[in-house]
Amino acid sequence: MAQINDNFIKIPATYLFSEIAKRVNQHKEANPEAPIIRMGIGDVSLPLPDAAVDALIKAAEEQRHAETFRGYGPEQGYAFLRDAIVANDFTANGLDIDADEIFVSDGAKSDTGNIGDIFSVNNRVAITDPSYPVYVDTNAMGGRAGEPNEQNVWSNLVYLPCNAENDFVPQLPTEKVDLIYLCYPNNPTGTTLTHEQLKVWVDYAKANNAIILFDAAYEAFITEENVPHSIYEIEGAREVALEFRSFSKTAGFTGTRCAYTVVPKTVMAFSENGEKVALNKLWNRRHSTKFNGTSYVVQRAAEATYSPEGKKQVKALIEFYTENARIIREALEKAGYTVYGGKNAPYVWAKAPEGMSSWEYFDYLLKEKNIVTTPGAGFGLSGEGFVRFSAFGSREATIEAMKRLEK
Ligand code: MLT
Repeated sequence: MAQINDNFIKIPATYLFSEIAKRVNQHKEANPEAPIIRMGIGDVSLPLPDAAVDALIKAAEEQRHAETFRGYGPEQGYAFLRDAIVANDFTANGLDIDADEIFVSDGAKSDTGNIGDIFSVNNRVAITDPSYPVYVDTNAMGGRAGEPNEQNVWSNLVYLPCNAENDFVPQLPTEKVDLIYLCYPNNPTGTTLTHEQLKVWVDYAKANNAIILFDAAYEAFITEENVPHSIYEIEGAREVALEFRSFSKTAGFTGTRCAYTVVPKTVMAFSENGEKVALNKLWNRRHSTKFNGTSYVVQRAAEATYSPEGKKQVKALIEFYTENARIIREALEKAGYTVYGGKNAPYVWAKAPEGMSSWEYFDYLLKEKNIVTTPGAGFGLSGEGFVRFSAFGSREATIEAMKRLEK
């Protein structure tokens, strides 16, 4: 008798963004003319930078000819891209990361979801609340989350509430944890940690033999001083932290797919019999067994984002979305909303009107204003009473949405 992984029965039947897409499609079917503005999932609206497209075309041409054709590449990524990543994202900022500590992939969603493969089911997992749903769902699938209650709070997860009362800064847990998911700039709240606040977590991880899984997918949106772009800016992080980065939101690769994970050779965890094991070795084994590498043409496109032209074009994209975030934040504030984020991140976290739940407000905005947001409750219990606005739309749509909210 074939048996399923029963953990899949325990998780909500649909992934958050699939549920939202379903509701939006129902609304669209019932109202085909509805002028819907999408500020839900953080999907970019501007096209790829020219430098990336030129590199894609050139690489595709290479694939046409026997002399330049490439088949399977190195699973960890081509040296040209790993070297460009190291030089531009780390060495240029005085950070010590080697090319063989970089693992190129098809997305930070896959990497943050798959990383659980190399960790024991017995680890105690801490997750900021609210958080990107992939962390909770994949730990639940892997059997580390225990049982959910009716509010979808899992018995074995340690939640680190982030709310206005603690200035969205997660406090150290009162019980010992082994794996800690941190995402900064934060999805969904758009808030950040200072160097000092992040150091508290690195120190905790060192003192408790814990590992930090640091999701830095939104690093390019940082505008303020004293906000770390990488966890490796914090002393000691090379011993306790993995970092996830993505070309999706920075260079518009949501549909093109490219990301990378940093696994320093100095990060160790323990086997059941207490032996120290390098995570780099395990992730390399996992990656080369379950993944055949990001396509050659896409890696060439990602490499091109580090060329002088590419960098300028990426900067322009980021500035465009950052301006959208400012427009959203200021318009919502003017309309009387309490808002957070949107300064170092492409997300604005807004309080729903008094007495309305996240989903009620989501439905109201969809049906009455034709605006798609993401209900805060979908990111965890502490997200209840909030909705998230994404700044990745066109300028026109962003301004129009804010006009609709003024009324
Ligand atoms: C989000 O909207 O939270 C993200 O776009 C989802 C993702 O990156 O998978």
